[in-house]
Amino acid sequence: MASGCTDPLVLGIESSCDDTAAAVVRGGREVLSSVVRSQAEEHAVFGGVVPEIAGRSHLRNAVPVLDQALAEAEVGLEDLDAVAVTARPGLIGSLLVGVSLAKSIAWARGLPLVGVHHIEAHAYAATMEHEVSFPAVALVVSGGHTALYRMPDATTLEKLAETRDDAAGEAFDNVSQMLGLGYPGGPAIALLAAEGDRAAVRFPRYRPKDEKPGFSFSGLKTAVLYHLRGQDALAPTPPPEAILDRADVAASFQEAVVDVLVAQTLAAAEREGTESILVGGGVACNARLRERMAAAAAARGSVASFPSPRFCADNAAMIAGLGGALFQAGCPSDLTLDASAR
Ligand code: KG4
Ligand code: ZN
Repeated sequence: MASGCTDPLVLGIESSCDDTAAAVVRGGREVLSSVVRSQAEEHAVFGGVVPEIAGRSHLRNAVPVLDQALAEAEVGLEDLDAVAVTARPGLIGSLLVGVSLAKSIAWARGLPLVGVHHIEAHAYAATMEHEVSFPAVALVVSGGHTALYRMPDATTLEKLAETRDDAAGEAFDNVSQMLGLGYPGGPAIALLAAEGDRAAVRFPRYRPKDEKPGFSFSGLKTAVLYHLRGQDALAPTPPPEAILDRADVAASFQEAVVDVLVAQTLAAAEREGTESILVGGGVACNARLRERMAAAAAARGSVASFPSPRFCADNAAMIAGLGGALFQAGCPSDLTLDASAR
């Protein structure tokens, strides 16, 4: 099938971090299958992703995950119109596994190969399940990225702002460690926060000095640490069982992150004059963020669109989706594709 055709059947492969994923998507939107094999358990003991382990695990999992995605979609390689793969950014040893697999399939079957930017795919994800009007402002919040984009259309991202230090997901993961909740931290904090009082501790909220939107979470992280140490910066961090207000800290921390994400996203939408807000990335699973963003958007007559949780976290449906949309738009696709960590 030629580039620019309607409804191409696209295989997507994702291996940028610690999830091995494959999916089959028709026409950039219709998800026929989406298989994700998480490595979270392998990395949990280390409190974060170990690149060496991730690369080896992708190598073990890639073909079984691919086979499962094709079987669940009830298609064979011969039915595909194109292959899409995350080419950047990510852990280079992890990316190379997915890119090599995608290249092999494309070469063997003579198929076009579309390289997809992981962050752009997170921003695209919400458009697969919602009718979105453009231009839109997109917030991508994950473990490695927190940034705002202007999207003139579903396949184009122009960066408006990004975090000065930590990503929001990274802050969730770090605070989770401090509270003895383990990795990944986001879901664990969200669960505990549901039992806590979000007004219990008044943690700081970052506000950019100039009028431009922006994010920072390192000050908030330090404030949580100081709170746990009883304002004595030199004191050791107490063991989790000695923290009496863990649920309150979790709820107050989460509220501070959500406040910053919502305020900066709405400020960007205001500046750009857009009515449509898209949110993607693992942190977009957060129920409090979804609730607050939706309410804040509605209050100004805008609509905030979120992917289903399974398409917020790393997955290959968003890769096959954006890959299909790029292919339809006639983007170049050949075997010269290279992987890049940045
Ligand atoms: O997009 P993603 O799966 O991987 C990256 O590209 O980074 O995002 C993973 C991040 C982790 O930091 C994890 O703690 C966070 O998303 N996360 C959450 C929630 N679920 C996952 N953060 C807050 N609340 C959640 N419910
Ligand atoms: Zn991601």
